[in-house]
Amino acid sequence: MPTQTVTTDFSDYIKKTAVTVDQALHQFLPSEKTAPATIHKAMRYSVFAGGKRLRPVLALAAAEACGGDPAKAMPAACAVEILHTYSLVHDDLPCMDDDDLRRGRPTCHKVFGDGMAVLCGDALLTESFLILARTLPTARYKMESFIHELALTSGSRHLIGGQVMDLEGEGQALTKAQLVKIHKAKTAALLTTSLRLGAMSVNATPARLEALTTFGNCLGLAFQIIDDILDVTQSTEVLGKTAGKDAKVDKATYPAVVGLDASRKEAATLTKKALAALEPLGTKAHRLRELASFLLVREY
Ligand code: IPE
Ligand code: IPE
Ligand code: MG
Ligand code: MG
Ligand code: MG
Repeated sequence: MPTQTVTTDFSDYIKKTAVTVDQALHQFLPSEKTAPATIHKAMRYSVFAGGKRLRPVLALAAAEACGGDPAKAMPAACAVEILHTYSLVHDDLPCMDDDDLRRGRPTCHKVFGDGMAVLCGDALLTESFLILARTLPTARYKMESFIHELALTSGSRHLIGGQVMDLEGEGQALTKAQLVKIHKAKTAALLTTSLRLGAMSVNATPARLEALTTFGNCLGLAFQIIDDILDVTQSTEVLGKTAGKDAKVDKATYPAVVGLDASRKEAATLTKKALAALEPLGTKAHRLRELASFLLVREY
């Protein structure tokens, strides 16, 4: 991978945005003292373990790209992060990817037990809709549109469907087309929805929403390809999750199906396509442009 080149201004933007998101998450989530305390401890343990906060940043930057106030997109931003965290807690379970390390810490089930981790995921999934319901509807988008968007993406047609195909694909010789289907469903869908919900929170025009959808589809696929590459090339220490796990269980990944070089090329081509899709949004989309370029060269 090329060396990470990020401007100081952009890295400041990411850090500051992540801090603002964390403050909002602290407000929205039940405190650790809320009974029963164990589940709320587990939820907060997983959420505040230090993820990149990519999905909320996408939501807030999409609102800005549509000329709106990012603050209006904060409930949507927090909702997608909470939903993402649930998907990770379940993804790590012994009956799924069986991972011991996540975000640099022992996984939720390692600390709280399998039963509590299942319940923690369930609670985070539900909580994400509770938080999304704080969004103020706009002239174009009623509450129903927000709920529909997140439910469709997180359900069996997309995220869960992708996880199903991912599990069923272990040990199978999949075609590239089948792999693309998995990656779009398990990962790209939620990244696209993060952008869409952020844009809808500021009453985006249908044309802008469409441009962001194309951007998200390309960026989302590139993101999972890079996740697959990093599993092969990066250390556990830097990743904050166990490296080399995919090959061990013969997962259907990009490097496994097309090789490392072709995977890198594909990620770069998709990033170019993503950037081209932003053209109609003009200069207001500059954070999204920086983000796409950063994600291509990310090291974790
Ligand atoms: C990991 O997502 C799971 C995938 C969909 C590849 P991230 O790489 O965004 O994980 P965090 O949120 O930074 O921990
Ligand atoms: C996770 O994909 C996708 C979802 C959680 C929906 P991976 O299984 O590749 O993610 P990591 O590598 O464990 O973060
Ligand atoms: Mg997985
Ligand atoms: Mg996994
Ligand atoms: Mg992975």
